[in-house]
This record gives sequence, structure tokens and C-alpha cells, in this order.
Amino acid sequence: TQTHLINIAIDGPAGAGKSTVARMVATALQYIYVDTGAMYRAVTLKAIEMDLPLEDNDKVGQLAKQLDIVLLPGAKSQRVIVNGEDVSSLLRSLEINRNVSYVARLESVRQRMADLQRSMALEKGVVMDGRDIGTHVLPNAELKIFLTATPRERANRRFMELGPDAGITLDQLEKEIAERDRLDQEREIAPLLQAPDAHLVDSTGRTVDEVVGEIVQWGLAAAKTI
Ligand code: DC
Repeated sequence: TQTHLINIAIDGPAGAGKSTVARMVATALQYIYVDTGAMYRAVTLKAIEMDLPLEDNDKVGQLAKQLDIVLLPGAKSQRVIVNGEDVSSLLRSLEINRNVSYVARLESVRQRMADLQRSMALEKGVVMDGRDIGTHVLPNAELKIFLTATPRERANRRFMELGPDAGITLDQLEKEIAERDRLDQEREIAPLLQAPDAHLVDSTGRTVDEVVGEIVQWGLAAAKTI
């Protein structure tokens, strides 16, 4: 049987392992990985650099429209080029973590990001991770995953990622993750939500390989049946 290219949407809260899993699924299927969180982080970085008020829909939206955001596959994670500048190493700081939900709430920014993301997925063969991909950006994605883990497990993973010198305790981190979940779930436009047709995958206590293997099998099955 012939296989077709499909789009795969992977949504879920911070620290559920979306980016690791999505990147590995993309590699296994030889698909393109798109990390949409990095795009919101890039807009946040530029808005902070320009001293814009982060809750200003018009000003930050205007900025987002002027940003040319290019995602390039990289060895460990994806590289993010904004107006020609590689900002990849600047996107995971605590300052960005703490501010990105405010920028991600703005309708103007979400509109622009969704347009960019849809254009990246036009030719299919894309694994896209985010919060609203299955519900809003790619409602017709052939495979949708909602990936979760307990808040403690997610905090643990971010703690390992940041390292012991990050100047934040595990408990603080868990609180900040819970707060970011709340902001992402309660925002008016395209909140974090499981699509009715998404597979719920809880990664708590499971290995990355197990989770990736499961999603790849679903992906291969979906690619055969369309
Ligand atoms: O996945 P991440 O932690 O890099 O995402 C950063 C922030 O961006 C997160 O707080 C929610 C927001 N986001 C969003 O609102 N919609 C997306 N599709 C991706 C991320």
C-alpha cells in the first residue's frame, strides 16, 4: 500500500516532553519538525529587547508582523532565525519563560503565528508542537496527540534542563509551571485544550522511546489510510 504525507499535531502543557517527542517522531518519519513555542518565545524576546509593553496587542502585533521567523533543523534542537539573527540560545531563559504567556495571549500575535504555521504545513509531512495546533492551527491534521505528564514530573524535567545553577528550586519551578498552565488554559483565544479527536498520551513514568514509538505507529497507520 502507498503511504501519504500527513500532518501530526502534538499539543500539551509546558514540560510534557512535546519538543523532544515531536523532534524524534519527525526524525523517524523523515518529516519536518516545527516548534511553535519557539516562535512565541522569539516574539517575546524581540518585544522585551525593544521595551514594548507586553500586553499591548497593537504594538506587539505590529512587531510580530515585521519579524521574519525561520526555523532550521539543528543537531539538538531547532534553530530559530529572526530577521537573519540566530536567537536560538536566547529563547529558554527564565525571563522569557515568565513573559511568554503574556505575548501568547495577544490576538494579533496569535493570528500572525497561525498564518506562518499554516504556511509551513501546506505541503504536509510536518510534526508541529504547541498548544493550539490540533484545535486551531491545523484542525484537519491527520493525527493529533495531547501529551501530558503530572506537574511534578514536568517541573523535574525542566529542572534538569535548566541545571542546578539556574537559581530556582524545584518547588518554585513547579509553581511557575502551574501558573503558566493556568494562563495558557484560561486565555480567551485558542487556549490550551485537548481536541476531541486527539489521542491522550500521559508520559509520566514512561520512556521517551516508548512514547515516540507509539506515536510513530499511529502516524504510519494514518499515512496508510488516507
Ligand atoms: O512550548 P513552550 O514552552 O516553548 O511554549 C512557550 C509559550 O508559548 C507557552 O507558555 C504557551 C505559548 N504557546 C502558545 O500559546 N501556543 C503555541 N502553539 C505554542 C506555545
